[in-house]
Amino acid sequence: MRKTVYYIQGDGIGPEVWNAARPVLEKALEQAYKGKHELEWIELLAGEKAYAETGDYLPQSTLDSLDKASLAIKGPLATPVSGGFRSLNVTLRQTLDLYACIRPVRYFQGIESPLKRPDLVDMVVFRENTEDVYAGIEWAANTSEARRLISFLRDELKVSVSESAAIGLKPVTEKGCKRLVRKAVQYAVDQGRPSVTLVHKGNIMKFTEGAFRTWGYELARDEFSGLTITEDEAGSGKKGLVINDRIADAMFQEVLMRPEQYSVIATTNLNGDYLSDALAAQVGGLGLAPGVNMSDSLAFFEPTHGTAPTIAGKDMANPGSLILSGAMLLEHAGWGKAAGLIYEAVEKVIKSKKVTVDLATQIKGSTRVGCREFGELVGMSL
Ligand code: NAI
Repeated sequence: MRKTVYYIQGDGIGPEVWNAARPVLEKALEQAYKGKHELEWIELLAGEKAYAETGDYLPQSTLDSLDKASLAIKGPLATPVSGGFRSLNVTLRQTLDLYACIRPVRYFQGIESPLKRPDLVDMVVFRENTEDVYAGIEWAANTSEARRLISFLRDELKVSVSESAAIGLKPVTEKGCKRLVRKAVQYAVDQGRPSVTLVHKGNIMKFTEGAFRTWGYELARDEFSGLTITEDEAGSGKKGLVINDRIADAMFQEVLMRPEQYSVIATTNLNGDYLSDALAAQVGGLGLAPGVNMSDSLAFFEPTHGTAPTIAGKDMANPGSLILSGAMLLEHAGWGKAAGLIYEAVEKVIKSKKVTVDLATQIKGSTRVGCREFGELVGMSL
């Protein structure tokens, strides 16, 4: 079978990590399926390359192609200093309604971690990507907009807010919560994962974070009945996918102290932002953290790091995050065997202690290799 993958090389270290990663993905597919499955790569322009060629950072033709695509992968994109929008990434997420940000967090043998048992960490974070205080609906202190809102709150809703306050809004909808939790539960069912934990701050923000919890349980009960069970039912011996919930602050303790008890996490935007970076740190940092942003039609894979401008063009970047994002793409395409080969190969290279500079500083006795060589070593270990 042949599947089309649209790709954007990205800015800064984007082209070099892309050049190191793409041959690994192709070789893994070939090794796993001996030519039975193939990728057709189609490049799309975005970022500085697009600007140089078309005068536009995000050409409409790129958005049109992505609108019809089901698989895409991108390198990091710099936020242009001018251009009329906040960030290319935010624009892509909003325009394409990429509402679920999914980040698997697992440990690779050989990486230094602050945990005693990092090998117990194997979680997948589903973070809502479009709502919450993170949506950026806010006004600076002492602006006419903030003052008007404060007057409205005082006069109409009888809520007292300091005249000099900056104001931000936290929209959270039933549709937004349910579609995110649906993706998380479906993933857990498909992958045979033991639990989905709804992470929220509903004890304080009852009608937003608390509603996320309520809607999450409702969704699991209504759409996955027969498959899911509560924590109480699990305690009395019933079998099934456990849906439980944890308050966000307690969850940060839980993932440190009892990581083996958590598998799939579904959470609101800001909680998810903090939690996925904290979890990545537990297994050795962002250098090897892959990710995907998904809508109902498109899975758009990307490394979690940025363009690393200070090391761009120096063959120093770690292509691991993009290689692992590519492995996620293969898994999503139904080619899990090829993805498995990549995970094993990355682990083998890390164990051999031949790593890029970011990991070399963390691993005692390691030998530093360049971006290209790291990719080649992974390819040779497949
Ligand atoms: P960054 O992730 O580019 O860099 C943070 C630090 O990590 C730097 O010290 C960098 O050298 C290092 N680093 C990052 N990736 C690395 C890799 N693969 N190998 C080795 N070292 C690596 O974050 P920063 O500096 O905040 O952002 C730089 C630019 O990237 C900005 O324009 C930002 O908007 C953009 N960005 C884009 C993202 C995306 O496209 N998804 C995500 C984050 C930032």
